[in-house]
Amino acid sequence: MARRKKLYEGKAKILYEGPEPGTIIQYFKDDATAFNAEKRATIEGKGVLNNRLSEHFMAGLNTIGVPTHFIRRLNMREQLVRAVEIIPLEVVVRNVAAGSISKRLGIEEGTPLPRPIVEFYYKDDALGDPLVSEEHIIAFGWAGQQDLDDMVALALRVNDFMSGLMLGVGIKLVDFKIEIGRVYDGDFTRLIVADEISPDSCRLWDIETGQKLDKDVFRRDLGNLADAYTEVANRLGLMPKNVAHTGPKLVN
Ligand code: TMP
Repeated sequence: MARRKKLYEGKAKILYEGPEPGTIIQYFKDDATAFNAEKRATIEGKGVLNNRLSEHFMAGLNTIGVPTHFIRRLNMREQLVRAVEIIPLEVVVRNVAAGSISKRLGIEEGTPLPRPIVEFYYKDDALGDPLVSEEHIIAFGWAGQQDLDDMVALALRVNDFMSGLMLGVGIKLVDFKIEIGRVYDGDFTRLIVADEISPDSCRLWDIETGQKLDKDVFRRDLGNLADAYTEVANRLGLMPKNVAHTGPKLVN
């Protein structure tokens, strides 16, 4: 079998050339990094969980008409996605103060925000993905005004969908990050949700106990990361059930 072409290797995923033009195979690794890769570990099973969880979220978004790059899952660790031109911005939506906004603005973690807040970070590892304003984005040509409006609208629709989905299984969506890509449809370009949506890129807190079920478990050494992600997958009904054997019994 011909060896497939590796297009890019990131911290948590590898991208390979897809079977048809305009497609890419996204492979989910077990690697976890935090604080711009200052902290690293391999967490067995994380890639499998994130592949399945990202499939669930992206397929759900596709169903309600929020366009994403997701086409189909191929196996335990890989999914087929549309090739996009990634906009070099991380789009973060926050419902509750946590992480960098708490630090930057001195807001206690867990404080509900008056409305969802959308932030942009410029994707540049060497600079540590700095927070940028719409002025910076337009002035430096990372995206146009129409793109910005479309990105905010997309991000808020993802927020509504994900918040509802999580609320249904007793989890609060505190914040999340998405990446957005451009696709060319004839003479038009469109923006669609790309990369992944998983507990690596969200903050998920149990509504009752406040228990963290996301990558903060790794960032802050709060326990076993795969167990936390398995809990999320379990609540969403994505884990195979241990079905009691009900078939015919062997009689001696
Ligand atoms: P922050 O509070 O550290 O800015 O993170 C906000 C959200 O974005 C949180 O859900 C985690 C996610 N995130 C990423 O997915 N990748 C990153 O590199 C960072 C810094 C945050």
